[in-house]
Amino acid sequence: MSRSAHPAGPRHADVLPEGHYSAPPADLNHLDPKVWARTVTRDERGVATVGGIAVDALAEEFGTPAYFLDETDFRARCRAWAEAFGKDADVFYAGKAFLSRAVVRWLKEEGLNLDVCSGGELTTALSAGMPAERIAFHGNNKSEEEIRTAVEAGVGRIVLDSFQEIVRVAHIAQSLGKRQRVQIRVTVGVEAHTHEFIATAHEDQKFGIALAGGQAAEAVRRALKLDGLELIGIHSHIGSQIFDMAGFEVSARRVVQLLAEVRDEHGVELPEIDLGGGLGIAYTSEDDPREPHEIAKALSEIVTRECESAGLRTPRISVEPGRAIVGPTAFTLYRVGTVKPLEGLRTYVSVDGGMSDNIRTALYDAEYSVSLVSRTSEAEPMLSRVVGKHCESGDIVVRDAFLPSDLAPGDLIAVPATGAYCRSMASNYNHALRPPVVAVREGEARVIVRRETEEDLLRLDVG
Ligand SMILES: Cc1ncc(COP(=O)(O)O)c(C=O)c1O
Repeated sequence: MSRSAHPAGPRHADVLPEGHYSAPPADLNHLDPKVWARTVTRDERGVATVGGIAVDALAEEFGTPAYFLDETDFRARCRAWAEAFGKDADVFYAGKAFLSRAVVRWLKEEGLNLDVCSGGELTTALSAGMPAERIAFHGNNKSEEEIRTAVEAGVGRIVLDSFQEIVRVAHIAQSLGKRQRVQIRVTVGVEAHTHEFIATAHEDQKFGIALAGGQAAEAVRRALKLDGLELIGIHSHIGSQIFDMAGFEVSARRVVQLLAEVRDEHGVELPEIDLGGGLGIAYTSEDDPREPHEIAKALSEIVTRECESAGLRTPRISVEPGRAIVGPTAFTLYRVGTVKPLEGLRTYVSVDGGMSDNIRTALYDAEYSVSLVSRTSEAEPMLSRVVGKHCESGDIVVRDAFLPSDLAPGDLIAVPATGAYCRSMASNYNHALRPPVVAVREGEARVIVRRETEEDLLRLDVG
């Protein structure tokens, strides 16, 4: 979300530069519950805590940079989604947001299903005991080996993404003497991001089969003919970080229209529709995400209404939230290394991580907030840019934020809402060692993904 430039004020520079920031928060020490994991607070010393453990102790034990994941919050969010959608719908956690074996076990215990999109995610899910029938397998170019593994394991559904894949999955299933449950992913011509959506977005992207030009109808025709496939429904996914339901409304209408066409042509009412993920979270205090029960109610009303007007039985709905479950539950803890004020511009705060642990700012111009967490401060706000230690000027973690002007090397700062698409997109750029993910719950912290070591790097480099 783009924010307006801050009006000039009594800050460390007389004239503040252009940027995506608004006025500094009234209290820089406040950890806004909107953007921080639920158990985060400050202790009597002013040090931030999660799950009852102070971040200075966490940094001491686990080092920095590191991701700390509030397990209590994660489980609560899973339950909220499962309860909101109830027994007549299915919630698939999108593993691409962040997946580890501990996460798989939590999902299993809290009653969620899992969407995976690679052989690696599938192996992780199966190895942690997720029942195969609760797994959906996605991807626009699944290899034959991945498809075979999925079919053999008995995954609950494979989401077909192309004409070639319809034949490929049918052939593999048949050769294994199986009939694979599948959905067809369609491109509905809707693209949604945050508050905007475009209802006539062209089909110029790699995912799905277009509704336009009758292609999706043709895909259904072909899938229904193949013995190796049991077509259970239609899938669509319209974007990411969405707050507004209007895009889902158009998408659901178009998918239901296809269901009606399928009924008219084949006499078959497909029993399921999947509306994908993409539900937004608060990265900054200015974001206002919807609660799962509001989303469930809105989606169910939209689908029911559209089906009634098409004279169809309401299909079983499924959704695939990733970010909305894991995003808010984690923060990245960094230690400040250098503080470089640029007169009339802003202060560059360098931390011990960067684009290798959070590529989203560089990749999508994502917005984050940041706070000093190893102490409180009454110093005046300082317009800051939090940057990493990589050899790349685009190595920015938080583009514009206010930190206290007495910030110094050695301080701990933390970026909230980094649970989704940070560790899962982390890289070894500059041979950085990918940080650990530490789960914290009721006074206990345990590593669920360990920090990489130089030996890990050298093991892959076979010389
Ligand atoms: C098919 C599909 N489902 C679900 C998701 C999860 O999206 P989010 O994490 O924004 O909810 C994605 C994200 O790319 C996706 O492509």
